[in-house]
Amino acid sequence: MMERIQFVLNDENISLEVDGERSLLWVLRTELGLTGTKFGCGEGVCCACTVLVEEEATPSCQITIGSVAGSRVTTIEGLAKNGRLHPLQKAFIKFDALQCGFCTPGMILRAYSLLAANPRPTRDQIIAEMDDNLCRCGAHVRIVQAIETAAAELRGGRS
Ligand code: FES
Ligand code: FES
Repeated sequence: MMERIQFVLNDENISLEVDGERSLLWVLRTELGLTGTKFGCGEGVCCACTVLVEEEATPSCQITIGSVAGSRVTTIEGLAKNGRLHPLQKAFIKFDALQCGFCTPGMILRAYSLLAANPRPTRDQIIAEMDDNLCRCGAHVRIVQAIETAAAELRGGRS
């Protein structure tokens, strides 16, 4: 059923007429043209489609656009501020923590959520938190290094 859905997307108020049962993933990619959010499995298994709902990493293929009405959603397009990359984005580039890059938006947003909840994660905690996000290219070691480095930068360089 078509309905008017209002929410905050990447710090902008959004209001659109849409079938509230459509998945957030496909509304982002088609109606809103934000293709940084990737379609992998469509079944909640790969987490390539991860976005932030409030500060929580959420597979966008598994929730409807109707369910985010009134919420704050962040996609990879919304992470850089004032033309400056987020420390996680900079660290992924520095450590070359990707190959094809298909998993990268979801990885970065999952890591963002982790560091928001736990600014000083251990390596084991990072590995456990990132476990649901699949990377077919085997960039895992560099991904963990990038997250550790970004965490340190976000803490102001303190270990
Ligand atoms: S595309 Fe959503 S979990 Fe794989
Ligand atoms: S970099 Fe290719 S799937 Fe992760």
